[in-house]
Amino acid sequence: MSNRIPNSASARDVMFHLHSQTNPQRHAEIGPLIMTHGEGVYVYDSNGKRYLEAMAGLWCTSLGFSDRRLKAAAAAAYDKFGFYHSFNHKTPDNTIDLTKQLAQISPIPDTQVYFATSGSEATETMVKLAWVYHAAHGKPGKRKIIARARGFHGSTIVAASMCGLPRMHREYGLPLPGFLHTHCPDAYRNALQGESEEAFVARLAADLETMILEEDPDTIAGFIAEPVNAGGGIIVPPNGYFAAIETVMRRHDILVLADEAVCGFGRTGNWFGCQTVGMTPDMMALAKGITSSYFPMSAVLLGRPIQEALAEINKGGELFGHGFTNSGHPVGAAIALEALAIYHEMDVVTHVRTMGERLRAGLGRIAATSGIVGQVRGVGLMIGVELVADPDTRHAFDPALKIGAMFDAQALENGLVIRAMGDTIGFCPPLIIAEAEIDETIDLFAKTLRQVEDRLGATLRLSSSPAAVLPSRH
Ligand SMILES: Cc1ncc(COP(=O)(O)O)c(C=O)c1O
Repeated sequence: MSNRIPNSASARDVMFHLHSQTNPQRHAEIGPLIMTHGEGVYVYDSNGKRYLEAMAGLWCTSLGFSDRRLKAAAAAAYDKFGFYHSFNHKTPDNTIDLTKQLAQISPIPDTQVYFATSGSEATETMVKLAWVYHAAHGKPGKRKIIARARGFHGSTIVAASMCGLPRMHREYGLPLPGFLHTHCPDAYRNALQGESEEAFVARLAADLETMILEEDPDTIAGFIAEPVNAGGGIIVPPNGYFAAIETVMRRHDILVLADEAVCGFGRTGNWFGCQTVGMTPDMMALAKGITSSYFPMSAVLLGRPIQEALAEINKGGELFGHGFTNSGHPVGAAIALEALAIYHEMDVVTHVRTMGERLRAGLGRIAATSGIVGQVRGVGLMIGVELVADPDTRHAFDPALKIGAMFDAQALENGLVIRAMGDTIGFCPPLIIAEAEIDETIDLFAKTLRQVEDRLGATLRLSSSPAAVLPSRH
Protein backbone atom coordinates (compact mmCIF):
# COMPACT_ATOMS: atom_id res chain seq x y z
CA MET A 1 0.00 0.00 0.00
CA SER A 2 1.32 3.42 -0.94
CA ASN A 3 1.04 4.75 2.62
CA ARG A 4 3.78 2.28 3.55
CA ILE A 5 6.22 3.94 1.12
CA PRO A 6 8.33 6.34 3.21
CA ASN A 7 7.67 9.98 2.47
CA SER A 8 4.97 9.20 -0.08
CA ALA A 9 2.01 11.59 -0.05
CA SER A 10 -0.03 8.80 1.56
CA ALA A 11 2.50 8.23 4.32
CA ARG A 12 2.71 11.94 5.02
CA ASP A 13 -1.05 12.22 5.10
CA VAL A 14 -1.32 9.39 7.61
CA MET A 15 1.40 10.96 9.73
CA PHE A 16 0.37 14.61 9.68
CA HIS A 17 -3.28 14.92 8.75
CA LEU A 18 -6.20 14.35 11.11
CA HIS A 19 -9.25 13.70 8.91
CA SER A 20 -12.88 14.64 9.62
CA GLN A 21 -15.44 11.85 10.05
CA THR A 22 -12.77 9.18 9.50
CA ASN A 23 -11.68 6.24 11.63
CA PRO A 24 -8.03 7.02 12.51
CA GLN A 25 -6.88 3.40 12.76
CA ARG A 26 -8.49 2.35 9.52
CA HIS A 27 -7.05 5.46 7.88
CA ALA A 28 -3.57 4.45 8.98
CA GLU A 29 -4.18 1.02 7.42
CA ILE A 30 -5.63 2.05 4.07
CA GLY A 31 -4.28 5.60 3.63
CA PRO A 32 -6.04 8.42 1.82
CA LEU A 33 -7.74 8.52 -1.56
CA ILE A 34 -5.95 11.55 -2.93
CA MET A 35 -7.91 13.69 -5.34
CA THR A 36 -6.11 16.05 -7.66
CA HIS A 37 -8.68 17.85 -9.81
CA GLY A 38 -12.19 17.91 -11.19
CA GLU A 39 -14.05 18.47 -14.43
CA GLY A 40 -17.80 19.04 -14.31
CA VAL A 41 -19.36 16.22 -12.26
CA TYR A 42 -16.14 14.17 -12.29
CA VAL A 43 -13.08 14.17 -10.04
CA TYR A 44 -9.71 12.51 -10.62
CA ASP A 45 -7.41 10.79 -8.17
CA SER A 46 -3.63 10.88 -8.06
CA ASN A 47 -3.47 7.77 -10.28
CA GLY A 48 -5.51 9.54 -12.93
CA LYS A 49 -8.62 7.46 -12.22
CA ARG A 50 -11.90 9.26 -12.90
CA TYR A 51 -14.92 9.16 -10.56
CA LEU A 52 -18.45 10.33 -11.18
CA GLU A 53 -18.96 12.35 -7.99
CA ALA A 54 -22.59 11.57 -7.22
CA MET A 55 -22.38 13.29 -3.81
CA ALA A 56 -21.21 16.71 -5.05
CA GLY A 57 -18.33 16.31 -2.58
CA LEU A 58 -20.21 16.83 0.69
CA TRP A 59 -23.62 17.74 -0.77
CA CYS A 60 -22.09 20.99 -1.87
CA THR A 61 -20.59 21.53 -5.33
CA SER A 62 -23.90 22.22 -7.02
CA LEU A 63 -22.13 23.72 -10.04
CA GLY A 64 -19.62 20.90 -10.35
CA PHE A 65 -15.89 20.92 -9.71
CA SER A 66 -14.56 23.24 -12.40
CA ASP A 67 -16.93 26.10 -13.05
CA ARG A 68 -14.98 28.73 -14.96
CA ARG A 69 -17.39 31.55 -14.20
CA LEU A 70 -17.04 31.05 -10.45
CA LYS A 71 -13.28 30.98 -10.81
CA ALA A 72 -13.33 34.21 -12.84
CA ALA A 73 -15.64 35.87 -10.30
CA ALA A 74 -13.24 34.97 -7.50
CA ALA A 75 -10.22 36.25 -9.43
CA ALA A 76 -11.97 39.54 -10.20
CA ALA A 77 -12.93 39.98 -6.55
CA TYR A 78 -9.35 39.31 -5.41
CA ASP A 79 -8.24 42.02 -7.85
CA LYS A 80 -10.32 44.50 -5.84
CA PHE A 81 -9.26 43.41 -2.35
CA GLY A 82 -8.45 40.15 -0.62
CA PHE A 83 -10.60 40.90 2.40
CA TYR A 84 -12.99 43.29 3.96
CA HIS A 85 -15.40 42.82 6.83
CA SER A 86 -18.88 43.74 8.02
CA PHE A 87 -18.22 44.87 11.59
CA ASN A 88 -18.83 48.39 12.93
CA HIS A 89 -21.09 49.66 10.12
CA LYS A 90 -18.63 48.72 7.34
CA THR A 91 -19.15 46.29 4.47
CA PRO A 92 -17.73 45.29 1.12
CA ASP A 93 -19.88 46.72 -1.70
CA ASN A 94 -20.74 43.42 -3.37
CA THR A 95 -21.86 41.89 -0.06
CA ILE A 96 -24.75 44.36 -0.16
CA ASP A 97 -25.67 43.15 -3.65
CA LEU A 98 -25.73 39.60 -2.38
CA THR A 99 -28.06 40.41 0.53
CA LYS A 100 -30.57 41.88 -1.91
CA GLN A 101 -30.35 38.88 -4.26
CA LEU A 102 -30.89 36.47 -1.37
CA ALA A 103 -33.78 38.51 0.02
CA GLN A 104 -35.44 38.38 -3.40
CA ILE A 105 -35.55 34.58 -3.47
CA SER A 106 -36.17 34.14 0.26
CA PRO A 107 -39.56 32.69 1.24
CA ILE A 108 -39.38 34.68 4.51
CA PRO A 109 -41.09 38.09 4.13
CA ASP A 110 -38.86 41.16 4.61
CA THR A 111 -35.71 39.07 4.84
CA GLN A 112 -32.45 40.38 6.26
CA VAL A 113 -29.28 38.37 5.77
CA TYR A 114 -26.59 37.57 8.31
CA PHE A 115 -23.39 36.02 6.94
CA ALA A 116 -21.13 33.40 8.50
CA THR A 117 -18.61 30.95 7.07
CA SER A 118 -19.92 27.45 7.81
CA GLY A 119 -23.17 25.60 8.23
CA SER A 120 -22.38 25.06 11.91
CA GLU A 121 -21.97 28.78 12.49
CA ALA A 122 -25.22 29.48 10.69
CA THR A 123 -27.25 26.98 12.73
CA GLU A 124 -25.68 28.25 15.96
CA THR A 125 -26.41 31.83 14.95
CA MET A 126 -30.09 30.91 14.58
CA VAL A 127 -30.06 29.58 18.14
CA LYS A 128 -28.59 32.82 19.48
CA LEU A 129 -31.11 34.88 17.53
CA ALA A 130 -33.95 32.73 18.89
CA TRP A 131 -32.69 33.50 22.41
CA VAL A 132 -32.57 37.21 21.54
CA TYR A 133 -36.12 37.04 20.16
CA HIS A 134 -37.57 35.56 23.33
CA ALA A 135 -35.51 37.77 25.63
CA ALA A 136 -36.78 40.83 23.76
CA HIS A 137 -40.31 39.56 24.32
CA GLY A 138 -39.74 39.32 28.06
CA LYS A 139 -39.21 35.55 28.08
CA PRO A 140 -35.47 35.03 28.64
CA GLY A 141 -36.25 31.60 30.09
CA LYS A 142 -37.17 30.30 26.64
CA ARG A 143 -33.77 28.74 25.86
CA LYS A 144 -34.16 25.08 24.99
CA ILE A 145 -33.96 23.84 21.42
CA ILE A 146 -35.78 20.80 20.09
CA ALA A 147 -34.06 18.99 17.26
CA ARG A 148 -34.74 15.54 15.79
CA ALA A 149 -33.24 12.08 15.80
CA ARG A 150 -31.03 11.54 12.74
CA GLY A 151 -30.78 15.27 12.07
CA PHE A 152 -27.41 16.86 11.25
CA HIS A 153 -26.65 20.49 12.01
CA GLY A 154 -22.85 20.72 12.27
CA SER A 155 -19.85 19.98 14.44
CA THR A 156 -19.35 22.93 16.80
CA ILE A 157 -20.67 22.33 20.30
CA VAL A 158 -24.19 23.68 19.99
CA ALA A 159 -24.57 22.49 16.40
CA ALA A 160 -23.38 19.03 17.43
CA SER A 161 -25.80 19.11 20.37
CA MET A 162 -28.60 19.60 17.87
CA CYS A 163 -27.47 16.62 15.78
CA GLY A 164 -29.49 13.48 16.34
CA LEU A 165 -26.62 11.14 15.51
CA PRO A 166 -24.89 9.31 18.39
CA ARG A 167 -21.41 9.62 16.86
CA MET A 168 -21.67 13.41 17.16
CA HIS A 169 -22.23 13.16 20.94
CA ARG A 170 -20.48 10.05 22.20
CA GLU A 171 -17.09 11.12 23.45
CA TYR A 172 -17.95 14.77 24.04
CA GLY A 173 -20.58 14.54 26.76
CA LEU A 174 -23.13 16.05 24.39
CA PRO A 175 -25.82 17.12 23.87
CA LEU A 176 -25.49 20.14 26.14
CA PRO A 177 -28.32 20.47 28.66
CA GLY A 178 -31.36 22.07 27.04
CA PHE A 179 -30.94 20.43 23.63
CA LEU A 180 -33.70 17.88 23.17
CA HIS A 181 -34.56 15.45 20.40
CA THR A 182 -37.86 14.31 19.04
CA HIS A 183 -38.68 11.59 16.49
CA CYS A 184 -37.31 11.39 12.97
CA PRO A 185 -40.20 11.45 10.47
CA ASP A 186 -39.06 8.28 8.71
CA ALA A 187 -42.33 6.50 8.00
CA TYR A 188 -40.51 3.54 6.42
CA ARG A 189 -38.65 2.77 9.64
CA ASN A 190 -40.72 4.42 12.38
CA ALA A 191 -44.39 4.00 11.45
CA LEU A 192 -46.13 1.31 13.46
CA GLN A 193 -47.48 -1.82 11.81
CA GLY A 194 -50.55 -0.78 9.80
CA GLU A 195 -50.24 2.90 10.81
CA SER A 196 -51.31 5.27 8.00
CA GLU A 197 -49.13 8.22 7.07
CA GLU A 198 -51.72 10.60 8.55
CA ALA A 199 -51.78 8.67 11.82
CA PHE A 200 -47.97 8.57 11.88
CA VAL A 201 -47.80 12.36 11.46
CA ALA A 202 -50.48 12.91 14.13
CA ARG A 203 -48.57 10.67 16.55
CA LEU A 204 -45.29 12.54 15.98
CA ALA A 205 -47.00 15.90 16.52
CA ALA A 206 -48.74 14.62 19.67
CA ASP A 207 -45.50 13.19 21.09
CA LEU A 208 -43.75 16.47 20.40
CA GLU A 209 -46.46 18.41 22.21
CA THR A 210 -46.21 16.05 25.17
CA MET A 211 -42.47 16.71 25.31
CA ILE A 212 -43.05 20.46 25.20
CA LEU A 213 -45.64 20.34 27.98
CA GLU A 214 -43.44 18.11 30.14
CA GLU A 215 -40.45 20.43 29.66
CA ASP A 216 -42.62 23.55 30.12
CA PRO A 217 -43.29 25.64 26.98
CA ASP A 218 -41.85 28.70 28.71
CA THR A 219 -38.42 27.06 28.56
CA ILE A 220 -38.42 26.26 24.83
CA ALA A 221 -37.02 28.69 22.27
CA GLY A 222 -36.98 26.87 18.96
CA PHE A 223 -37.40 23.78 16.87
CA ILE A 224 -34.74 23.06 14.23
CA ALA A 225 -35.10 20.74 11.26
CA GLU A 226 -33.63 20.04 7.86
CA PRO A 227 -36.56 20.13 5.41
CA VAL A 228 -35.23 16.82 4.05
CA ASN A 229 -32.71 15.10 6.35
CA ALA A 230 -29.43 14.69 4.52
CA GLY A 231 -26.72 12.99 6.59
CA GLY A 232 -29.26 11.01 8.62
CA GLY A 233 -30.13 8.97 5.54
CA ILE A 234 -32.13 11.20 3.16
CA ILE A 235 -35.51 11.26 4.87
CA VAL A 236 -38.39 13.05 3.19
CA PRO A 237 -41.10 13.78 5.76
CA PRO A 238 -44.60 12.53 5.00
CA ASN A 239 -47.20 14.95 3.61
CA GLY A 240 -48.56 17.26 6.26
CA TYR A 241 -45.67 16.65 8.67
CA PHE A 242 -44.42 20.22 8.95
CA ALA A 243 -47.95 21.67 8.98
CA ALA A 244 -48.77 19.48 11.98
CA ILE A 245 -45.49 20.23 13.76
CA GLU A 246 -45.72 23.96 13.13
CA THR A 247 -49.25 24.09 14.55
CA VAL A 248 -47.81 22.79 17.80
CA MET A 249 -44.89 25.25 17.66
CA ARG A 250 -47.06 28.28 17.06
CA ARG A 251 -49.35 27.27 19.91
CA HIS A 252 -46.39 27.44 22.31
CA ASP A 253 -44.58 30.43 20.80
CA ILE A 254 -41.63 28.34 19.64
CA LEU A 255 -39.63 29.54 16.62
CA VAL A 256 -39.19 27.28 13.60
CA LEU A 257 -35.60 27.13 12.31
CA ALA A 258 -34.90 25.55 8.91
CA ASP A 259 -31.45 24.13 8.28
CA GLU A 260 -31.17 24.50 4.51
CA ALA A 261 -27.42 23.83 4.36
CA VAL A 262 -28.04 20.95 1.94
CA CYS A 263 -31.60 21.58 0.72
CA GLY A 264 -31.13 25.21 -0.33
CA PHE A 265 -30.53 26.56 -3.84
CA GLY A 266 -32.55 24.10 -5.87
CA ARG A 267 -31.45 20.77 -4.44
CA THR A 268 -34.99 19.50 -3.75
CA GLY A 269 -36.60 20.93 -6.91
CA ASN A 270 -37.54 24.29 -5.37
CA TRP A 271 -35.31 27.18 -4.46
CA PHE A 272 -35.48 26.05 -0.83
CA GLY A 273 -36.31 22.75 0.78
CA CYS A 274 -38.91 24.39 3.04
CA GLN A 275 -40.96 25.13 -0.08
CA THR A 276 -40.84 21.45 -1.05
CA VAL A 277 -42.02 20.16 2.32
CA GLY A 278 -44.46 22.93 3.33
CA MET A 279 -42.34 24.37 6.12
CA THR A 280 -42.70 28.08 7.03
CA PRO A 281 -39.60 28.93 9.04
CA ASP A 282 -38.88 32.05 11.07
CA MET A 283 -35.19 31.72 10.15
CA MET A 284 -33.19 29.68 7.64
CA ALA A 285 -29.54 28.62 7.61
CA LEU A 286 -27.90 28.49 4.18
CA ALA A 287 -24.47 27.10 3.31
CA LYS A 288 -22.79 24.84 0.71
CA GLY A 289 -24.78 25.67 -2.46
CA ILE A 290 -24.62 29.40 -1.73
CA THR A 291 -21.14 29.41 -3.32
CA SER A 292 -21.25 25.83 -4.62
CA SER A 293 -18.64 25.49 -1.85
CA TYR A 294 -16.05 27.37 -3.91
CA PHE A 295 -15.66 29.61 -0.84
CA PRO A 296 -16.56 28.93 2.80
CA MET A 297 -19.70 31.00 3.18
CA SER A 298 -23.00 30.55 4.98
CA ALA A 299 -25.91 32.78 5.84
CA VAL A 300 -28.94 33.11 8.06
CA LEU A 301 -32.11 34.58 6.60
CA LEU A 302 -34.24 36.25 9.24
CA GLY A 303 -37.63 37.91 9.11
CA ARG A 304 -38.96 41.15 10.54
CA PRO A 305 -39.86 39.82 14.04
CA ILE A 306 -36.23 38.82 14.66
CA GLN A 307 -34.97 42.16 13.34
CA GLU A 308 -37.33 44.00 15.65
CA ALA A 309 -36.23 41.89 18.60
CA LEU A 310 -32.59 42.74 17.84
CA ALA A 311 -33.42 46.44 17.69
CA GLU A 312 -35.38 46.22 20.94
CA ILE A 313 -32.71 44.36 22.89
CA ASN A 314 -29.97 46.76 21.77
CA LYS A 315 -32.02 49.94 22.07
CA GLY A 316 -29.73 51.34 24.77
CA GLY A 317 -27.01 51.65 22.12
CA GLU A 318 -25.31 48.31 22.71
CA LEU A 319 -23.78 46.35 19.84
CA PHE A 320 -25.21 43.12 18.48
CA GLY A 321 -22.58 40.99 20.20
CA HIS A 322 -21.95 38.42 17.53
CA GLY A 323 -19.71 38.22 14.49
CA PHE A 324 -17.25 36.13 12.52
CA THR A 325 -14.16 37.74 11.01
CA ASN A 326 -14.95 36.46 7.54
CA SER A 327 -18.71 37.14 7.62
CA GLY A 328 -19.75 38.58 4.25
CA HIS A 329 -16.27 38.17 2.74
CA PRO A 330 -16.12 39.99 -0.61
CA VAL A 331 -14.64 37.04 -2.50
CA GLY A 332 -17.34 34.72 -1.14
CA ALA A 333 -19.95 37.33 -2.03
CA ALA A 334 -18.63 37.58 -5.60
CA ILE A 335 -18.75 33.82 -6.01
CA ALA A 336 -22.22 33.59 -4.46
CA LEU A 337 -23.52 36.33 -6.78
CA GLU A 338 -22.15 34.46 -9.79
CA ALA A 339 -23.53 31.14 -8.53
CA LEU A 340 -26.96 32.74 -8.14
CA ALA A 341 -26.75 34.16 -11.66
CA ILE A 342 -25.96 30.68 -12.98
CA TYR A 343 -28.78 29.07 -10.99
CA HIS A 344 -31.22 31.57 -12.48
CA GLU A 345 -29.87 31.19 -16.03
CA MET A 346 -29.92 27.38 -15.99
CA ASP A 347 -33.40 27.44 -14.39
CA VAL A 348 -32.06 25.25 -11.62
CA VAL A 349 -35.49 24.33 -10.27
CA THR A 350 -36.77 22.87 -13.55
CA HIS A 351 -33.45 21.19 -14.32
CA VAL A 352 -33.31 19.52 -10.90
CA ARG A 353 -36.89 18.29 -11.20
CA THR A 354 -36.22 16.74 -14.61
CA MET A 355 -32.88 15.18 -13.71
CA GLY A 356 -34.11 14.09 -10.28
CA GLU A 357 -37.06 12.28 -11.84
CA ARG A 358 -34.76 10.52 -14.30
CA LEU A 359 -32.38 9.44 -11.53
CA ARG A 360 -35.14 8.29 -9.23
CA ALA A 361 -36.92 6.35 -11.98
CA GLY A 362 -33.66 4.70 -13.06
CA LEU A 363 -32.68 3.70 -9.54
CA GLY A 364 -36.24 2.44 -9.01
CA ARG A 365 -36.01 0.25 -12.14
CA ILE A 366 -32.83 -1.35 -10.84
CA ALA A 367 -34.29 -1.69 -7.34
CA ALA A 368 -37.24 -3.63 -8.73
CA THR A 369 -34.85 -6.33 -9.98
CA SER A 370 -32.99 -6.62 -6.69
CA GLY A 371 -33.66 -8.66 -3.61
CA ILE A 372 -31.89 -6.24 -1.28
CA VAL A 373 -33.42 -2.82 -1.97
CA GLY A 374 -36.05 -1.86 0.57
CA GLN A 375 -36.82 1.67 -0.52
CA VAL A 376 -35.81 4.29 -3.08
CA ARG A 377 -36.73 7.68 -1.65
CA GLY A 378 -35.94 11.34 -2.03
CA VAL A 379 -36.88 14.46 -3.87
CA GLY A 380 -35.12 16.48 -6.55
CA LEU A 381 -31.46 15.50 -6.76
CA MET A 382 -31.33 14.10 -3.23
CA ILE A 383 -32.08 10.41 -3.33
CA GLY A 384 -31.47 7.52 -0.94
CA VAL A 385 -31.59 3.80 -1.61
CA GLU A 386 -31.99 1.73 1.54
CA LEU A 387 -30.54 -1.76 1.35
CA VAL A 388 -32.24 -4.35 3.54
CA ALA A 389 -31.99 -8.06 4.25
CA ASP A 390 -35.64 -8.57 3.35
CA PRO A 391 -37.63 -5.97 1.42
CA ASP A 392 -40.94 -7.63 2.31
CA THR A 393 -40.45 -7.38 6.07
CA ARG A 394 -38.08 -4.33 5.90
CA HIS A 395 -35.73 -6.39 8.03
CA ALA A 396 -32.36 -4.60 8.16
CA PHE A 397 -29.02 -6.29 7.55
CA ASP A 398 -26.95 -7.26 10.54
CA PRO A 399 -24.84 -4.07 11.08
CA ALA A 400 -21.76 -6.29 11.45
CA LEU A 401 -22.04 -7.11 7.74
CA LYS A 402 -21.39 -3.41 6.99
CA ILE A 403 -23.30 -3.62 3.72
CA GLY A 404 -23.32 0.14 3.19
CA ALA A 405 -19.54 0.33 3.59
CA MET A 406 -19.14 -2.65 1.25
CA PHE A 407 -21.28 -0.86 -1.34
CA ASP A 408 -19.30 2.35 -0.91
CA ALA A 409 -15.95 0.60 -1.47
CA GLN A 410 -17.27 -1.33 -4.48
CA ALA A 411 -18.75 1.83 -6.01
CA LEU A 412 -15.40 3.60 -5.64
CA GLU A 413 -13.71 0.74 -7.41
CA ASN A 414 -16.24 1.20 -10.20
CA GLY A 415 -15.51 4.94 -10.40
CA LEU A 416 -18.63 6.15 -8.60
CA VAL A 417 -18.66 8.27 -5.43
CA ILE A 418 -21.80 7.77 -3.32
CA ARG A 419 -22.29 8.12 0.42
CA ALA A 420 -23.25 5.20 2.61
CA MET A 421 -25.26 6.28 5.66
CA GLY A 422 -25.59 3.00 7.46
CA ASP A 423 -27.11 0.84 4.72
CA THR A 424 -28.67 3.75 2.87
CA ILE A 425 -26.84 4.73 -0.29
CA GLY A 426 -27.02 8.48 -0.87
CA PHE A 427 -27.03 10.32 -4.19
CA CYS A 428 -26.70 14.10 -4.22
CA PRO A 429 -24.87 14.91 -7.47
CA PRO A 430 -23.91 18.37 -8.72
CA LEU A 431 -27.07 20.09 -9.93
CA ILE A 432 -25.51 20.69 -13.36
CA ILE A 433 -25.59 16.95 -14.02
CA ALA A 434 -26.75 16.09 -17.54
CA GLU A 435 -28.92 13.22 -18.80
CA ALA A 436 -26.01 11.08 -19.96
CA GLU A 437 -24.33 11.47 -16.55
CA ILE A 438 -27.53 10.51 -14.76
CA ASP A 439 -27.68 7.38 -16.94
CA GLU A 440 -24.04 6.63 -16.17
CA THR A 441 -24.81 6.98 -12.44
CA ILE A 442 -27.68 4.52 -12.77
CA ASP A 443 -25.51 2.03 -14.72
CA LEU A 444 -22.72 2.25 -12.14
CA PHE A 445 -25.25 1.80 -9.33
CA ALA A 446 -26.65 -1.31 -11.07
CA LYS A 447 -23.19 -2.78 -11.61
CA THR A 448 -22.21 -2.13 -7.99
CA LEU A 449 -25.46 -3.56 -6.66
CA ARG A 450 -24.98 -6.80 -8.60
CA GLN A 451 -21.44 -7.15 -7.28
CA VAL A 452 -22.60 -6.51 -3.71
CA GLU A 453 -25.41 -9.03 -4.12
CA ASP A 454 -22.93 -11.61 -5.39
CA ARG A 455 -20.52 -10.99 -2.53
CA LEU A 456 -23.31 -11.06 -0.03
CA GLY A 457 -24.70 -14.27 -1.50
CA ALA A 458 -21.27 -15.87 -1.13
CA THR A 459 -20.96 -14.62 2.46
CA LEU A 460 -24.39 -15.87 3.40
CA ARG A 461 -23.83 -19.26 1.72
CA LEU A 462 -20.71 -19.64 3.83
CA SER A 463 -22.54 -18.66 7.03
CA SER A 464 -24.08 -21.49 9.00
CA SER A 465 -27.46 -19.78 9.52
CA PRO A 466 -30.14 -21.44 7.40
CA ALA A 467 -32.27 -18.28 7.72
CA ALA A 468 -29.61 -16.16 6.11
CA VAL A 469 -30.74 -16.63 2.55
CA LEU A 470 -30.56 -13.76 0.12
CA PRO A 471 -34.07 -13.00 -1.14
CA SER A 472 -34.09 -13.12 -4.93
CA ARG A 473 -36.01 -11.02 -7.41
CA HIS A 474 -33.69 -11.51 -10.36
C1 LIG B 1 -27.85 19.97 7.15
C2 LIG B 1 -26.49 20.44 7.57
N1 LIG B 1 -26.38 21.44 8.45
C3 LIG B 1 -25.19 21.90 8.86
C4 LIG B 1 -24.03 21.35 8.38
C5 LIG B 1 -22.70 21.86 8.89
O1 LIG B 1 -22.03 22.57 7.94
P1 LIG B 1 -20.46 22.89 8.12
O2 LIG B 1 -19.75 21.58 8.01
O3 LIG B 1 -20.17 23.85 7.02
O4 LIG B 1 -20.29 23.50 9.46
C6 LIG B 1 -24.09 20.32 7.44
C7 LIG B 1 -22.85 19.71 6.92
O5 LIG B 1 -22.86 18.74 6.21
C8 LIG B 1 -25.35 19.83 7.04
O6 LIG B 1 -25.45 18.80 6.20
